[in-house]
Parts: sequence; structure tokens; C-alpha cells
Amino acid sequence: MEIVILPDPEQVQKLAAKIVKAQVTQEPNLVLGCATGSTMEGFYAELLRHGAILDGVTTFNLDEYLGLDAYHPCSYAAFMQEHFFRHTAIPPQRRHLLDGKTDDVSRHCAAYEEQIRAVGGIDLQLLGIGRDGHIAFNEPGSSLASRTRLKILTPLTRESNARHFPPGWEVPKYVLTMGIGTILEAHRCLLLAFGESKAEAIAAAVEGPLSADCPASALQFHQRTTVIIDGAAAQKLRRAEYYRTVYENKPNWMRRELEGE
Ligand code: F6R
Repeated sequence: MEIVILPDPEQVQKLAAKIVKAQVTQEPNLVLGCATGSTMEGFYAELLRHGAILDGVTTFNLDEYLGLDAYHPCSYAAFMQEHFFRHTAIPPQRRHLLDGKTDDVSRHCAAYEEQIRAVGGIDLQLLGIGRDGHIAFNEPGSSLASRTRLKILTPLTRESNARHFPPGWEVPKYVLTMGIGTILEAHRCLLLAFGESKAEAIAAAVEGPLSADCPASALQFHQRTTVIIDGAAAQKLRRAEYYRTVYENKPNWMRRELEGE
């Protein structure tokens, strides 16, 4: 795991956008794993501002609320449309999202896994992290080998996500999500986080024991994960100073490898 600590959320989003743009430039047919949520909003805006040519990209989203269709304003499909897809030329047939209205969850999830396999896997997976350490919607206790399936959200996640729903609307309890095993097969992962509310989850993910109690800690097993966070999210890292030193003293060739330039 590589940990990059930057002064503020804007710089986190800028560096992530720079990395994605560089990788898309090198691999125009990149398979991009997409995340949603507050962390990703500014990132997509930044990526679009960087002028990345995305026409050849294929996308797979991490998760979706069960019961919400693509036109529901709080669905992740609607989020992607609003913050990313409508600003790109990625053809609809290459945008893959889990269907919140499926009437056969098991078959739909297995077919999603098959679609990922059919394109040769995910090249670059974007990730946020929940306050309880979830990645995608793999809540604490999720199998570290899990595949795409139905999960039930914790009360903490439903409470956190209530800010994306109009007052009085219920956050769905059931979701569809890629599994941790699915995510670990991505060739590269980029996890972004900022703000004090993520500090505990980041410390558990990066320095805690590898445990289903913090699903993001499974990334310790991934061979190419970069965690880009701001100072507030880094507050509880015991080795924050060391990570800063490593980043500042990177030889140029290693920096190029990280940033893809
Ligand atoms: C959403 C997803 C989630 C979020 C996480 C953080 O597609 O994968 O794991 O990344 O819940 O959400 P925000 O960024 O809203 O704090």
C-alpha cells in the first residue's frame, strides 16, 4: 500500500485525476471501476476539467441501492449520470451499473461478475471508504473473498448516507455491491478519503490488523493500492510522518510510476 498525505481535499482530487488521466492516456480502452458519494463528486469534476479523453473507456460501478431505478434521483446511476457520464462520450453500452430493480438478484450479480471477466477485469478501481471501514458496500463482517451480491447496510452507513436523500426519505436497507474479492482482482486501486470523520477508518484500513471488521484493510493484500488522503483523514495514522517522508523523497522514476507520467 502506498499512502499519500496531501494538505487538503482539492489536492487529493487533483492528484487522483492526474493519475487517472495519465493512465487513460496510456490505455485508451481502460476498464475503470467507478465509486460514488461525496468524496468522488469533486474527483469527477477534476477529471473532466483535466480534459481526459474518455471515449474508449469501459466503466463498472461498485454498488447500487436495491429498489431504486436508474431514474431515481438518489440512485447511484443518477449520480453517475449527473457527475460524470453526461459530460463524457462513453457510449451507454460500455457503462455498467448494477440494476437496483432486478427481480433476480443472484443471477444479476453473477452476470455482473461475468461481464467484468469478459472485458479482462478492472484496470483501475476507484474507491471511497465509509466511516465503518466499508469499501463499496461491503460492511464490517463481509467475507474478504466475497463476490458481487446483496448486502444489508449498517445503521451508521444509512445515517451517513441520509444526507444524500431529501428530508423524510428512507435510505434503502438493501444494496447490491461488488465483493471484496471482486475489488481485490482489480489491477490497481486508488482509495480517496478526506476529513476527520474518516480518520479512524483510514487508520484501521492502513495500520490495523487485516480483518473483516474493517473491510478496507483487505487492501493490505492488494499489490497495487494507492491511498490518497488529506491531513484530517491522516490524523490517526501512527506512521503519518514516515508516509510523508517517503512521498517527498521518492526518486523521480518512482514518482512517474505513481503518477503515470
Ligand atoms: C459508493 C461507495 C461507498 C462510498 C463510501 C464513502 O459507491 O463505494 O463505499 O465510497 O460510503 O462515501 P462518501 O464519499 O459519501 O463519504
